[in-house]
Amino acid sequence: MIVEDLEELRRVAAVKFVDVANNAINEKGRFQVSLAGGSTPRSLYRLLASAEYREKIDWSKVFLFFGDERFVPPDHPDSNYRMAKENLFDLIDIPDANIFRWPTENVNAEQAGAEYERTLNDFFGSDTFARFDLILLGMGADGHTASLFPNTAALNEEQRIAVANRVDRLDTTRLTLTFPVINNAANVVFLLAGEEKADTLRDILEGAPDPEKYPAQSIKPAGKLIWIVEKKAASKLSDAIS
Ligand code: 6PG
Repeated sequence: MIVEDLEELRRVAAVKFVDVANNAINEKGRFQVSLAGGSTPRSLYRLLASAEYREKIDWSKVFLFFGDERFVPPDHPDSNYRMAKENLFDLIDIPDANIFRWPTENVNAEQAGAEYERTLNDFFGSDTFARFDLILLGMGADGHTASLFPNTAALNEEQRIAVANRVDRLDTTRLTLTFPVINNAANVVFLLAGEEKADTLRDILEGAPDPEKYPAQSIKPAGKLIWIVEKKAASKLSDAIS
C-alpha cells in the first residue's frame, strides 16, 4: 500500500494495529506484538498513545516485544526500548509486566540473546513455536530489516528465534529476532518512508532474489505480509504495491 506521506502512513498503520489487536483479544484474550525500532515507527507509537487511539485497545491484554535492539542500556539514546517507552509506554495504561525488552544489561550480547529467547519461549510455551499476532518491521536503505543485516550470520539461523548478530559494517553487535519466528507471524507489516530506500525497495520487490544482499526479501510470513510505503520510498516501483 502506497501512502502520501508519514501522516497517512502512521494513520493507516494505527488502524491496522488496532484491528489486529482487537481481533486477537476477541479471539484469544491477548495480543502479542513485536515492535520495530528506528525512526519511522516513532510517529505511529505516538498516535497509538494519543487520546484519539489509546482507548481503542485494552492495553492490559497487549504484550509488547521488540523485533530487535541495539546492545546498549535501556535508557541509552539509541535504545529502541527507550524510543518506544518515551513515545508509547509512558503515555498509556499498560502494566510493566506486559513489556518485554531485550536484557541489554547482560555481560555480553550472546547472553542477552539467549535470555530473550528464554523469555519468548516461556511466554509462548516451550511446546509452541513463538507466533506473534503482529510484527512491525522497518527496512534500511541497505535492505536490512530488524537487525538482520546483509551478509551477517543471523541470516542463516534456522533454529533459534532470538540471537546476537555481529554487524561488521556498523562495527557493532545487534540483537534480533530471526527469520523463523518473523515468518511464523500471523501478520507482518513493513513501515517504510524516505526516497533513500526507493532503489532498494524496487530491487527487493521486483528484482532477482538475493537474500544475502537484501535480507528483507526473506520475509515471507505464514500469515499476511503488508507493506505500508510512503510515496517517495515507492517512487521506483514499476507496479504499485497492492
Ligand atoms: C533498528 C530497526 C531497523 C529499522 C531500519 C529502518 O533497530 O534500527 O529495527 O531495522 O527498522 O533501520 O529505520 P528507519 O525507520 O529509521 O528508517
